[in-house]
Amino acid sequence: MNNVLIAPSILAADFRCLDEQVKAVHEAGVQWIHLDIMDGHFVPNISFGPPVVSSIRKGTNLVLDTHLMIDDPNRYLEAFREAGSDIITVHQEVCPHLHRTVSRIRELGAKAGVALNPATSVSQIKDILDDVDLILIMTVNPGFGGQKFIQRTVDKIRECRQLIASSGRSIYLEVDGGIDTVTAPVAVTAGADVLVAGTSVFGVPDLRKAVKDLMESVSPRHTP
Ligand code: DX5
Ligand code: ZN
Repeated sequence: MNNVLIAPSILAADFRCLDEQVKAVHEAGVQWIHLDIMDGHFVPNISFGPPVVSSIRKGTNLVLDTHLMIDDPNRYLEAFREAGSDIITVHQEVCPHLHRTVSRIRELGAKAGVALNPATSVSQIKDILDDVDLILIMTVNPGFGGQKFIQRTVDKIRECRQLIASSGRSIYLEVDGGIDTVTAPVAVTAGADVLVAGTSVFGVPDLRKAVKDLMESVSPRHTP
């Protein structure tokens, strides 16, 4: 297993002092920031768009990991790339021409990710592995922070890790939703190597400690 990366999701951050909060998690040792983009169509909630991504970009050199929970993401790929996204992840469920979409993301110079909802089978991405840099297994139904980790998704993480291993390619396996010090080791043991964490990092008073606790929970010493 490679090093496990923590990608705090700013969805749970205090937007009055976003720059400060991003700097605090950077100092705590994270390398990625997860940006949840919601459109009120694909998911019931609305979050923020390219101008906010662009502002965050001005204050940090962390990897901006952008998770598009939006219908027809093809319309916005350029905008998010121009705003400074390093990784752009689209949902399989809204991309009938997924190969075209991920190819376009790479043409724009970003890394391409594909996300799967809890009800979407891992088999849906087996023919696209040569063309992606990241697979995101949703461990909750997308749309809101603070939801409970769906245990059934652990089998999917395991299945996806096997698929990646058999492809022989280097692809990040990210998990998103309900990740805390209890569920993180479960996901990592199943094969995840990037952990998105919103509430468990930004929803607690001491976010530096939260990052440290999360990292420790998946250190080889603790992972069963
Ligand atoms: C859910 C988002 C997640 C969310 C995670 O729709 O994709 O990234 O912010 O939040 P927590 O960690 O609170 O489940
Ligand atoms: Zn997300």
